[in-house]
Amino acid sequence: MNAPTHPPRSFRVEPGGRLSGRLRVPGDKSISHRSVILGALADGVTRVTGFLEGADALSTRDALRALGAHIEGPDHGVLRIQGVGVDGLRAAPGAIDCGNAGTAMRLLIGLLSGQPFASVLVGDESLTRRPMRRVVDPLALMGARIETRDGCPPVHVFAAPGGLRAIRYEMAIASAQVKSALLLAGLYAAGTTEVREPAPTRDHTERMLGGFGVRIARDGPWARLDGGQRLRATDIDVPGDISSAAFFLVGASIAEGSDLTLEHVGVNPTRTGVLDILRAMGADITLEREREVGGEPVADLRVRGARLRGIEVPPEWVPLAIDEFPAIFVAAACAHGRTVVTGAEELRVKESDRIAAMAEGLCALGADARATADGMVIEGRGDEHTPFRGARLASRGDHRIAMALSLAALRCTGEITVDDTANVATSFPDFVALARRSGLGVSEIGSA
Ligand code: S3P
Repeated sequence: MNAPTHPPRSFRVEPGGRLSGRLRVPGDKSISHRSVILGALADGVTRVTGFLEGADALSTRDALRALGAHIEGPDHGVLRIQGVGVDGLRAAPGAIDCGNAGTAMRLLIGLLSGQPFASVLVGDESLTRRPMRRVVDPLALMGARIETRDGCPPVHVFAAPGGLRAIRYEMAIASAQVKSALLLAGLYAAGTTEVREPAPTRDHTERMLGGFGVRIARDGPWARLDGGQRLRATDIDVPGDISSAAFFLVGASIAEGSDLTLEHVGVNPTRTGVLDILRAMGADITLEREREVGGEPVADLRVRGARLRGIEVPPEWVPLAIDEFPAIFVAAACAHGRTVVTGAEELRVKESDRIAAMAEGLCALGADARATADGMVIEGRGDEHTPFRGARLASRGDHRIAMALSLAALRCTGEITVDDTANVATSFPDFVALARRSGLGVSEIGSA
Protein backbone atom coordinates (compact mmCIF):
# COMPACT_ATOMS: atom_id res chain seq x y z
CA MET A 1 0.00 0.00 0.00
CA ASN A 2 1.27 3.45 -0.72
CA ALA A 3 -1.61 4.92 1.26
CA PRO A 4 -0.38 6.46 4.50
CA THR A 5 0.50 3.64 6.84
CA HIS A 6 1.72 5.85 9.67
CA PRO A 7 0.60 5.05 13.21
CA PRO A 8 -2.49 6.97 14.34
CA ARG A 9 -1.74 10.63 14.90
CA SER A 10 -3.55 13.49 16.57
CA PHE A 11 -3.14 17.24 16.64
CA ARG A 12 -3.18 19.07 19.94
CA VAL A 13 -3.84 22.78 19.50
CA GLU A 14 -3.48 25.40 22.22
CA PRO A 15 -6.14 28.08 22.32
CA GLY A 16 -5.60 31.63 21.10
CA GLY A 17 -2.91 33.28 19.04
CA ARG A 18 -2.77 35.02 15.70
CA LEU A 19 -1.08 34.30 12.38
CA SER A 20 1.72 36.40 10.93
CA GLY A 21 4.76 36.32 8.67
CA ARG A 22 5.26 34.90 5.20
CA LEU A 23 4.92 31.29 4.15
CA ARG A 24 4.73 29.12 1.10
CA VAL A 25 2.19 26.32 1.10
CA PRO A 26 2.94 23.08 -0.79
CA GLY A 27 2.31 22.57 -4.48
CA ASP A 28 -1.17 22.32 -5.93
CA LYS A 29 -2.53 18.79 -5.66
CA SER A 30 -4.71 18.93 -8.76
CA ILE A 31 -1.91 20.29 -10.92
CA SER A 32 0.62 17.82 -9.45
CA HIS A 33 -1.56 14.82 -10.37
CA ARG A 34 -2.00 16.09 -13.91
CA SER A 35 1.69 16.92 -14.35
CA VAL A 36 2.74 13.29 -13.84
CA ILE A 37 -0.02 11.87 -15.99
CA LEU A 38 0.57 14.17 -18.95
CA GLY A 39 4.36 14.08 -18.51
CA ALA A 40 4.25 10.26 -18.69
CA LEU A 41 2.16 10.39 -21.87
CA ALA A 42 4.38 12.95 -23.59
CA ASP A 43 7.20 12.46 -26.05
CA GLY A 44 10.38 13.66 -24.32
CA VAL A 45 11.37 14.75 -20.83
CA THR A 46 9.08 16.82 -18.62
CA ARG A 47 10.60 18.59 -15.65
CA VAL A 48 8.17 19.53 -12.89
CA THR A 49 9.08 21.99 -10.14
CA GLY A 50 7.00 22.69 -7.02
CA PHE A 51 5.49 19.17 -7.17
CA LEU A 52 3.41 18.29 -4.10
CA GLU A 53 5.37 15.74 -2.09
CA GLY A 54 2.15 14.52 -0.48
CA ALA A 55 0.85 10.96 -0.48
CA ASP A 56 -1.92 11.64 -3.04
CA ALA A 57 0.37 12.99 -5.74
CA LEU A 58 2.93 10.28 -4.95
CA SER A 59 0.22 7.66 -5.55
CA THR A 60 -0.20 9.03 -9.06
CA ARG A 61 3.56 9.07 -9.60
CA ASP A 62 3.78 5.43 -8.46
CA ALA A 63 0.88 4.50 -10.75
CA LEU A 64 2.58 5.98 -13.81
CA ARG A 65 5.85 4.30 -12.85
CA ALA A 66 4.03 0.97 -12.64
CA LEU A 67 2.60 1.71 -16.09
CA GLY A 68 6.10 2.09 -17.52
CA ALA A 69 7.10 5.75 -17.31
CA HIS A 70 10.56 6.50 -15.95
CA ILE A 71 10.14 9.08 -13.18
CA GLU A 72 12.86 10.46 -10.90
CA GLY A 73 12.04 12.41 -7.75
CA PRO A 74 10.50 14.38 -6.29
CA ASP A 75 13.62 15.86 -4.85
CA HIS A 76 12.80 19.22 -3.25
CA GLY A 77 9.71 19.32 -5.42
CA VAL A 78 11.56 18.54 -8.66
CA LEU A 79 10.34 15.62 -10.72
CA ARG A 80 11.90 14.40 -13.97
CA ILE A 81 9.57 12.38 -16.14
CA GLN A 82 10.76 10.48 -19.18
CA GLY A 83 7.53 10.18 -21.12
CA VAL A 84 6.66 7.01 -23.01
CA GLY A 85 4.33 8.62 -25.55
CA VAL A 86 0.54 8.22 -25.73
CA ASP A 87 0.95 4.68 -27.06
CA GLY A 88 3.80 3.64 -24.75
CA LEU A 89 2.13 2.62 -21.48
CA ARG A 90 2.27 -1.05 -20.54
CA ALA A 91 0.28 -3.18 -18.11
CA ALA A 92 1.18 -2.63 -14.46
CA PRO A 93 2.60 -5.71 -12.74
CA GLY A 94 -0.14 -5.66 -10.08
CA ALA A 95 -3.07 -3.65 -8.80
CA ILE A 96 -2.58 0.12 -8.91
CA ASP A 97 -3.03 1.55 -5.42
CA CYS A 98 -4.48 5.08 -5.46
CA GLY A 99 -4.36 5.32 -1.66
CA ASN A 100 -6.67 8.10 -0.47
CA ALA A 101 -6.70 9.93 -3.83
CA GLY A 102 -10.02 10.18 -5.65
CA THR A 103 -8.48 12.36 -8.33
CA ALA A 104 -5.81 9.75 -9.06
CA MET A 105 -8.38 7.00 -9.38
CA ARG A 106 -10.92 8.86 -11.51
CA LEU A 107 -8.36 10.32 -13.91
CA LEU A 108 -6.59 6.98 -14.23
CA ILE A 109 -9.84 5.16 -14.98
CA GLY A 110 -10.26 7.53 -17.94
CA LEU A 111 -6.68 7.09 -19.09
CA LEU A 112 -6.64 3.31 -18.67
CA SER A 113 -9.94 2.75 -20.45
CA GLY A 114 -8.12 3.67 -23.67
CA GLN A 115 -5.25 1.20 -23.21
CA PRO A 116 -4.86 -2.17 -24.96
CA PHE A 117 -4.34 -3.94 -21.60
CA ALA A 118 -6.27 -4.55 -18.39
CA SER A 119 -5.70 -2.75 -15.06
CA VAL A 120 -7.02 -2.99 -11.52
CA LEU A 121 -7.34 0.12 -9.36
CA VAL A 122 -7.66 -0.08 -5.58
CA GLY A 123 -7.63 2.46 -2.75
CA ASP A 124 -7.75 2.86 1.00
CA GLU A 125 -10.86 2.46 3.14
CA SER A 126 -12.15 5.96 2.37
CA LEU A 127 -11.56 5.72 -1.38
CA THR A 128 -13.16 2.28 -1.45
CA ARG A 129 -16.44 3.92 -0.38
CA ARG A 130 -16.38 6.67 -3.02
CA PRO A 131 -18.60 6.67 -6.12
CA MET A 132 -17.01 5.81 -9.47
CA ARG A 133 -20.13 5.51 -11.65
CA ARG A 134 -19.83 9.19 -12.51
CA VAL A 135 -16.79 8.28 -14.65
CA VAL A 136 -17.60 4.66 -15.45
CA ASP A 137 -21.01 5.39 -17.02
CA PRO A 138 -19.87 7.97 -19.61
CA LEU A 139 -16.74 5.94 -20.35
CA ALA A 140 -18.97 2.92 -21.04
CA LEU A 141 -20.79 5.08 -23.62
CA MET A 142 -17.38 5.51 -25.27
CA GLY A 143 -17.07 1.73 -25.46
CA ALA A 144 -14.93 1.22 -22.34
CA ARG A 145 -15.23 -2.05 -20.41
CA ILE A 146 -15.07 -1.35 -16.69
CA GLU A 147 -16.24 -3.34 -13.68
CA THR A 148 -16.69 -2.04 -10.15
CA ARG A 149 -18.03 -3.39 -6.89
CA ASP A 150 -21.46 -1.72 -6.76
CA GLY A 151 -20.06 1.43 -8.33
CA CYS A 152 -17.11 1.64 -5.93
CA PRO A 153 -13.48 0.45 -6.02
CA PRO A 154 -11.84 -1.91 -6.72
CA VAL A 155 -12.18 -0.96 -10.38
CA HIS A 156 -11.25 -3.37 -13.19
CA VAL A 157 -10.57 -1.65 -16.49
CA PHE A 158 -10.29 -3.94 -19.52
CA ALA A 159 -9.13 -3.22 -23.05
CA ALA A 160 -12.09 -1.79 -24.98
CA PRO A 161 -13.08 -4.23 -27.69
CA GLY A 162 -12.76 -2.25 -30.91
CA GLY A 163 -11.25 0.75 -29.09
CA LEU A 164 -12.96 3.88 -27.75
CA ARG A 165 -15.24 6.13 -29.75
CA ALA A 166 -15.79 9.82 -29.03
CA ILE A 167 -19.02 10.98 -27.41
CA ARG A 168 -20.77 14.26 -26.83
CA TYR A 169 -21.52 14.23 -23.12
CA GLU A 170 -23.37 16.63 -20.85
CA MET A 171 -22.25 16.01 -17.26
CA ALA A 172 -24.99 15.95 -14.62
CA ILE A 173 -22.63 17.09 -11.85
CA ALA A 174 -20.04 19.85 -11.95
CA SER A 175 -16.95 17.67 -11.57
CA ALA A 176 -13.47 18.42 -12.88
CA GLN A 177 -12.51 14.83 -12.21
CA VAL A 178 -15.22 13.52 -14.52
CA LYS A 179 -14.40 16.11 -17.19
CA SER A 180 -10.70 15.23 -16.97
CA ALA A 181 -11.29 11.47 -17.11
CA LEU A 182 -13.33 11.90 -20.30
CA LEU A 183 -10.76 14.19 -21.91
CA LEU A 184 -7.97 11.71 -21.15
CA ALA A 185 -10.04 8.89 -22.63
CA GLY A 186 -10.78 11.21 -25.54
CA LEU A 187 -7.08 11.20 -26.46
CA TYR A 188 -7.60 7.51 -27.34
CA ALA A 189 -11.04 7.79 -28.95
CA ALA A 190 -11.92 7.88 -32.63
CA GLY A 191 -13.46 11.28 -33.34
CA THR A 192 -14.01 14.44 -31.31
CA THR A 193 -14.83 14.06 -27.63
CA GLU A 194 -17.10 16.84 -26.38
CA VAL A 195 -17.78 17.39 -22.68
CA ARG A 196 -20.16 19.94 -21.19
CA GLU A 197 -20.03 20.99 -17.55
CA PRO A 198 -23.19 22.32 -15.88
CA ALA A 199 -21.14 24.96 -13.99
CA PRO A 200 -17.48 25.97 -14.29
CA THR A 201 -15.02 23.61 -12.58
CA ARG A 202 -11.23 23.68 -12.32
CA ASP A 203 -9.71 23.74 -15.80
CA HIS A 204 -6.16 22.57 -15.10
CA THR A 205 -6.49 19.60 -17.46
CA GLU A 206 -7.52 21.78 -20.37
CA ARG A 207 -4.77 24.32 -19.70
CA MET A 208 -2.10 21.69 -19.25
CA LEU A 209 -3.13 19.68 -22.33
CA GLY A 210 -2.72 22.93 -24.27
CA GLY A 211 0.73 23.37 -22.72
CA PHE A 212 1.66 19.89 -23.97
CA GLY A 213 0.68 20.92 -27.49
CA VAL A 214 -2.71 19.20 -27.63
CA ARG A 215 -5.34 21.10 -29.60
CA ILE A 216 -8.25 21.52 -27.22
CA ALA A 217 -11.15 23.84 -27.93
CA ARG A 218 -12.95 25.56 -25.08
CA ASP A 219 -16.22 27.12 -25.88
CA GLY A 220 -18.26 28.26 -22.86
CA PRO A 221 -19.25 25.13 -20.94
CA TRP A 222 -17.86 22.81 -23.65
CA ALA A 223 -14.39 21.32 -24.00
CA ARG A 224 -13.58 19.43 -27.20
CA LEU A 225 -10.58 17.45 -28.34
CA ASP A 226 -9.77 15.13 -31.23
CA GLY A 227 -8.44 11.67 -30.48
CA GLY A 228 -5.08 10.49 -31.76
CA GLN A 229 -3.07 13.58 -30.79
CA ARG A 230 0.43 13.32 -29.33
CA LEU A 231 1.80 15.30 -26.36
CA ARG A 232 5.06 17.24 -26.49
CA ALA A 233 7.04 17.31 -23.22
CA THR A 234 7.19 20.67 -21.46
CA ASP A 235 8.32 22.09 -18.14
CA ILE A 236 5.74 22.68 -15.42
CA ASP A 237 6.00 24.98 -12.41
CA VAL A 238 3.35 23.95 -9.90
CA PRO A 239 2.03 26.92 -7.87
CA GLY A 240 1.11 26.68 -4.19
CA ASP A 241 -2.26 25.05 -3.55
CA ILE A 242 -5.03 27.56 -2.82
CA SER A 243 -6.87 24.69 -1.11
CA SER A 244 -4.01 24.44 1.41
CA ALA A 245 -3.72 28.23 1.62
CA ALA A 246 -7.43 28.33 2.54
CA PHE A 247 -6.77 27.14 6.11
CA PHE A 248 -4.45 30.08 6.65
CA LEU A 249 -6.76 32.53 4.91
CA VAL A 250 -9.47 31.54 7.38
CA GLY A 251 -7.12 31.36 10.39
CA ALA A 252 -5.73 34.84 9.78
CA SER A 253 -9.19 36.25 9.06
CA ILE A 254 -10.71 34.99 12.33
CA ALA A 255 -7.75 35.86 14.59
CA GLU A 256 -7.62 39.57 15.41
CA GLY A 257 -4.26 41.20 14.73
CA SER A 258 -3.17 38.62 12.15
CA ASP A 259 -1.15 39.73 9.12
CA LEU A 260 0.03 36.84 6.97
CA THR A 261 1.33 36.60 3.42
CA LEU A 262 1.02 33.34 1.49
CA GLU A 263 3.52 33.34 -1.33
CA HIS A 264 3.16 31.99 -4.87
CA VAL A 265 -0.40 30.66 -4.60
CA GLY A 266 -2.28 29.51 -7.69
CA VAL A 267 -5.22 31.86 -8.34
CA ASN A 268 -6.75 30.21 -11.39
CA PRO A 269 -10.28 31.74 -11.52
CA THR A 270 -11.79 28.24 -11.41
CA ARG A 271 -10.24 27.83 -7.95
CA THR A 272 -10.73 31.20 -6.27
CA GLY A 273 -14.25 30.76 -4.95
CA VAL A 274 -12.79 30.79 -1.43
CA LEU A 275 -11.49 34.31 -2.01
CA ASP A 276 -14.89 35.48 -3.27
CA ILE A 277 -16.71 33.86 -0.35
CA LEU A 278 -14.35 35.14 2.35
CA ARG A 279 -14.31 38.63 0.84
CA ALA A 280 -18.11 38.65 0.67
CA MET A 281 -17.97 37.84 4.40
CA GLY A 282 -15.77 40.90 4.93
CA ALA A 283 -12.31 39.30 4.89
CA ASP A 284 -9.32 41.52 4.22
CA ILE A 285 -7.41 39.66 1.49
CA THR A 286 -5.29 41.35 -1.15
CA LEU A 287 -3.51 39.86 -4.14
CA GLU A 288 0.06 41.02 -4.61
CA ARG A 289 2.57 40.38 -7.40
CA GLU A 290 -0.04 38.87 -9.70
CA ARG A 291 1.70 37.00 -12.51
CA GLU A 292 1.35 33.99 -14.80
CA VAL A 293 3.54 30.92 -14.38
CA GLY A 294 3.37 28.12 -16.95
CA GLY A 295 -0.18 28.93 -18.02
CA GLU A 296 -1.56 29.31 -14.48
CA PRO A 297 -2.19 32.64 -12.71
CA VAL A 298 -0.24 33.03 -9.46
CA ALA A 299 -0.17 35.70 -6.72
CA ASP A 300 0.94 36.35 -3.16
CA LEU A 301 -2.07 36.54 -0.87
CA ARG A 302 -1.95 38.95 2.05
CA VAL A 303 -4.60 38.39 4.69
CA ARG A 304 -5.32 40.34 7.85
CA GLY A 305 -7.72 39.77 10.70
CA ALA A 306 -11.20 41.15 9.96
CA ARG A 307 -14.73 41.36 11.26
CA LEU A 308 -16.56 38.67 9.31
CA ARG A 309 -20.31 38.60 8.67
CA GLY A 310 -22.49 35.68 7.66
CA ILE A 311 -23.68 35.37 4.05
CA GLU A 312 -25.79 33.19 1.82
CA VAL A 313 -23.22 31.56 -0.41
CA PRO A 314 -24.40 31.69 -4.04
CA PRO A 315 -24.72 28.04 -5.19
CA GLU A 316 -22.86 28.82 -8.43
CA TRP A 317 -19.76 29.60 -6.35
CA VAL A 318 -19.78 26.17 -4.72
CA PRO A 319 -17.79 24.19 -7.36
CA LEU A 320 -15.18 26.95 -7.38
CA ALA A 321 -14.54 26.46 -3.65
CA ILE A 322 -15.55 22.82 -3.24
CA ASP A 323 -12.52 21.71 -1.21
CA GLU A 324 -12.48 24.83 0.96
CA PHE A 325 -15.83 24.41 2.73
CA PRO A 326 -14.43 22.77 5.85
CA ALA A 327 -12.38 25.95 6.42
CA ILE A 328 -15.21 28.25 5.29
CA PHE A 329 -17.57 26.65 7.85
CA VAL A 330 -15.10 27.57 10.61
CA ALA A 331 -15.03 31.16 9.34
CA ALA A 332 -18.83 31.20 9.31
CA ALA A 333 -18.99 30.10 12.95
CA CYS A 334 -16.80 33.13 13.81
CA ALA A 335 -18.84 35.58 11.72
CA HIS A 336 -21.62 37.92 12.79
CA GLY A 337 -24.96 36.48 11.71
CA ARG A 338 -26.12 33.51 9.72
CA THR A 339 -24.29 31.75 6.91
CA VAL A 340 -26.23 29.46 4.59
CA VAL A 341 -24.56 27.05 2.17
CA THR A 342 -26.73 25.21 -0.37
CA GLY A 343 -26.03 23.19 -3.51
CA ALA A 344 -23.02 21.54 -1.89
CA GLU A 345 -24.23 17.92 -1.71
CA GLU A 346 -20.95 16.83 -3.36
CA LEU A 347 -19.32 17.48 0.02
CA ARG A 348 -20.99 14.31 1.25
CA VAL A 349 -18.88 12.11 -1.07
CA LYS A 350 -15.42 13.59 -0.55
CA GLU A 351 -12.69 11.91 1.55
CA SER A 352 -15.39 11.89 4.25
CA ASP A 353 -18.95 13.20 4.46
CA ARG A 354 -17.71 16.74 5.01
CA ILE A 355 -21.13 18.16 5.86
CA ALA A 356 -21.65 15.62 8.66
CA ALA A 357 -18.03 15.77 9.83
CA MET A 358 -17.95 19.57 10.09
CA ALA A 359 -21.41 19.89 11.66
CA GLU A 360 -20.40 17.35 14.28
CA GLY A 361 -17.04 19.04 14.92
CA LEU A 362 -18.46 22.55 15.12
CA CYS A 363 -21.27 21.46 17.46
CA ALA A 364 -18.73 19.72 19.72
CA LEU A 365 -16.90 23.06 19.81
CA GLY A 366 -20.12 24.72 20.98
CA ALA A 367 -21.01 26.39 17.69
CA ASP A 368 -24.51 26.55 16.27
CA ALA A 369 -24.20 24.55 13.04
CA ARG A 370 -26.99 22.55 11.41
CA ALA A 371 -26.27 20.11 8.59
CA THR A 372 -28.75 20.12 5.70
CA ALA A 373 -28.99 17.66 2.82
CA ASP A 374 -26.90 19.88 0.56
CA GLY A 375 -25.02 22.23 2.87
CA MET A 376 -25.13 23.87 6.27
CA VAL A 377 -26.76 26.66 8.24
CA ILE A 378 -24.44 28.29 10.76
CA GLU A 379 -25.45 30.95 13.27
CA GLY A 380 -22.16 32.78 13.70
CA ARG A 381 -21.03 33.98 17.11
CA GLY A 382 -18.75 36.74 15.84
CA ASP A 383 -19.73 38.96 18.78
CA GLU A 384 -17.95 36.56 21.14
CA HIS A 385 -14.18 36.71 21.40
CA THR A 386 -14.13 32.93 21.84
CA PRO A 387 -17.10 31.35 20.08
CA PHE A 388 -15.57 27.88 20.55
CA ARG A 389 -14.87 25.75 23.62
CA GLY A 390 -12.12 23.14 23.88
CA ALA A 391 -13.01 19.63 22.73
CA ARG A 392 -11.69 16.35 21.40
CA LEU A 393 -12.73 16.03 17.78
CA ALA A 394 -12.87 13.33 15.09
CA SER A 395 -11.38 14.15 11.71
CA ARG A 396 -12.84 10.96 10.21
CA GLY A 397 -9.43 10.42 8.61
CA ASP A 398 -10.05 13.41 6.32
CA HIS A 399 -7.09 15.75 5.85
CA ARG A 400 -9.16 18.86 5.27
CA ILE A 401 -11.46 18.24 8.25
CA ALA A 402 -8.39 17.81 10.48
CA MET A 403 -6.78 21.07 9.36
CA ALA A 404 -10.00 23.10 9.38
CA LEU A 405 -10.94 22.05 12.93
CA SER A 406 -7.41 22.81 14.16
CA LEU A 407 -7.77 26.43 13.09
CA ALA A 408 -10.80 26.84 15.36
CA ALA A 409 -8.35 26.91 18.30
CA LEU A 410 -7.52 30.52 17.39
CA ARG A 411 -10.94 31.52 18.79
CA CYS A 412 -11.36 28.87 21.47
CA THR A 413 -11.50 28.93 25.28
CA GLY A 414 -9.60 25.66 25.67
CA GLU A 415 -7.37 23.15 23.99
CA ILE A 416 -8.55 21.26 20.91
CA THR A 417 -7.46 17.72 20.11
CA VAL A 418 -8.16 16.43 16.62
CA ASP A 419 -7.80 12.68 16.18
CA ASP A 420 -6.79 10.59 13.19
CA THR A 421 -4.70 13.20 11.41
CA ALA A 422 -2.19 10.99 9.54
CA ASN A 423 -3.93 11.73 6.23
CA VAL A 424 -3.00 15.40 6.46
CA ALA A 425 0.12 14.11 4.70
CA THR A 426 -1.97 13.40 1.58
CA SER A 427 -2.13 17.09 0.68
CA PHE A 428 -0.09 19.06 3.22
CA PRO A 429 2.85 17.13 4.68
CA ASP A 430 4.36 20.22 6.37
CA PHE A 431 1.15 21.50 7.90
CA VAL A 432 2.20 21.31 11.55
CA ALA A 433 5.58 23.00 10.97
CA LEU A 434 4.16 25.78 8.78
CA ALA A 435 1.17 26.39 11.02
CA ARG A 436 3.40 26.58 14.10
CA ARG A 437 5.75 28.99 12.37
CA SER A 438 2.88 31.29 11.52
CA GLY A 439 1.52 31.28 15.10
CA LEU A 440 -0.90 28.36 15.59
CA GLY A 441 -0.07 26.44 18.76
CA VAL A 442 -0.39 23.03 17.10
CA SER A 443 1.71 19.96 17.81
CA GLU A 444 1.48 16.40 16.61
CA ILE A 445 1.07 13.60 19.10
CA GLY A 446 0.65 9.83 18.86
CA SER A 447 -2.98 8.99 19.60
CA ALA A 448 -3.72 7.70 23.07
C1 S3P B 1 -10.28 17.73 -8.20
C2 S3P B 1 -11.60 18.02 -8.40
C3 S3P B 1 -12.58 18.15 -7.30
C4 S3P B 1 -11.91 18.28 -5.96
C5 S3P B 1 -10.77 17.32 -5.80
C6 S3P B 1 -9.72 17.55 -6.86
C7 S3P B 1 -9.40 17.60 -9.37
O1 S3P B 1 -13.41 17.00 -7.30
O2 S3P B 1 -12.83 18.10 -4.92
O3 S3P B 1 -10.15 17.48 -4.53
O4 S3P B 1 -8.16 17.65 -9.21
O5 S3P B 1 -9.93 17.47 -10.50
P1 S3P B 1 -14.70 16.94 -8.26
O6 S3P B 1 -14.24 17.28 -9.61
O7 S3P B 1 -15.21 15.54 -8.19
O8 S3P B 1 -15.68 17.93 -7.69
